[in-house]
Amino acid sequence: MKILFLDQSGKPGGAELCLIDIAKPYRDRALVGLFADGSFKTLLQQNHIPVEVLTTQKIQVRKQSNFFQAFGSLTQLAPLIFKVAETAKKYDIIYANTQKALVIGAVASFLARRPLVYHLHDILSSEHFSQTNLRVAVNLANRFATLVIANSQASKTAFVQAGGKAEITQVVYNGFDGKLYQTSPAETQKLRQQLGVEKKFVVGQFSRLSPWKGQHILIDAIAQCPPEVTAILVGDALFGEQDYVKQLHQQITQLGLEKRVKFLGFRNDIPQLMAACDLVAHTSIAPEPFGRVIVEAMLCEKAVVAAKAGGATELVEHGINGFLTTPGESQELAEIINTCLQDQQTTATIASHARTTASQRFDVAHINQQIAELLLSCAK
Ligand code: UDP
Ligand code: GLC
Repeated sequence: MKILFLDQSGKPGGAELCLIDIAKPYRDRALVGLFADGSFKTLLQQNHIPVEVLTTQKIQVRKQSNFFQAFGSLTQLAPLIFKVAETAKKYDIIYANTQKALVIGAVASFLARRPLVYHLHDILSSEHFSQTNLRVAVNLANRFATLVIANSQASKTAFVQAGGKAEITQVVYNGFDGKLYQTSPAETQKLRQQLGVEKKFVVGQFSRLSPWKGQHILIDAIAQCPPEVTAILVGDALFGEQDYVKQLHQQITQLGLEKRVKFLGFRNDIPQLMAACDLVAHTSIAPEPFGRVIVEAMLCEKAVVAAKAGGATELVEHGINGFLTTPGESQELAEIINTCLQDQQTTATIASHARTTASQRFDVAHINQQIAELLLSCAK
């Protein structure tokens, strides 16, 4: 089957990293069309997945836009829509991986008469999107998509609550290659040395820097923990959240945590860095649609504490294979960090259980098989 994948982003967020795994089995007969240039293109090339930047024009539909802004931007999109429709004629399916890709892909699927698949990586609720964006996404998916793949039950529920058709929507979790998350103790020790955290209790946060990812909650929690507790913040402000980054630095200065919180920027050695942590914290203050970092921590055999909302509650069972805390509650988070610090034996047992369950539930070969079957039924 020949697939035209579409993604709006030039940068590798979770939806893009997920797309790499989905596109790989089709790489000798697929194309990934991007609406921006950047490091995601390079990652696709490194994975030998054909990629083309279809436009470098800024697409202005913002997460919080009104109807007129949304309509105004649509009229500017005509050249891109025709380009995608023309390209789509050489493929069997259009696979839209983001919301702007859905907008373009929907019209192109109509013009080129190709089935449209929409991979929903978002929780379509007012916490994340404007009413206009919600309506546009739901109506386009209902009208044009043959299949909606939701990245969690939480994303599917929000889609259906917003008016999306349940009967075309299937939940498929992100898949992972467990082998990539195995690291050597020697390598881990070296990395801890390099980071200057050998004798510390290290809590890692692996997310792009963005207010809803809640790095500020972890910083507040660290201030409530003993001095040996240190945090590493791994990730960059991918979508221009510079004000938030400034706020985080101010917060660290005000709390006197300069020596206990380190920013590492965007990194490609996530498994190694996770292995170098004693605990991984997921701190989103709005419901996380899925939360790749949670599964990745589990695969690294690390205890993970996640914010109890959205997809995270489908991944973690509190006290069994991880911990859950109320989103936005730094004191609760600090209590879990302290529990893990004091009872490292129980924490290790939970981490070991996490690896076993995650390897079974999120195996990429199995997930790709599920997707292949769904795509086959669409192409018929
Ligand atoms: N990630 C990365 N380098 C970084 C920070 C994050 O490669 O410096 C990866 C991380 O391992 C995960 C993805 O980015 O696979 C983030 O996905 P997630 O679903 O957790 O959140 P999103 O940013 O997509 O909302
Ligand atoms: C999105 C979501 C994230 C999810 C990822 C992969 O980026 O924000 O929660 O894990 O897509 O599906």
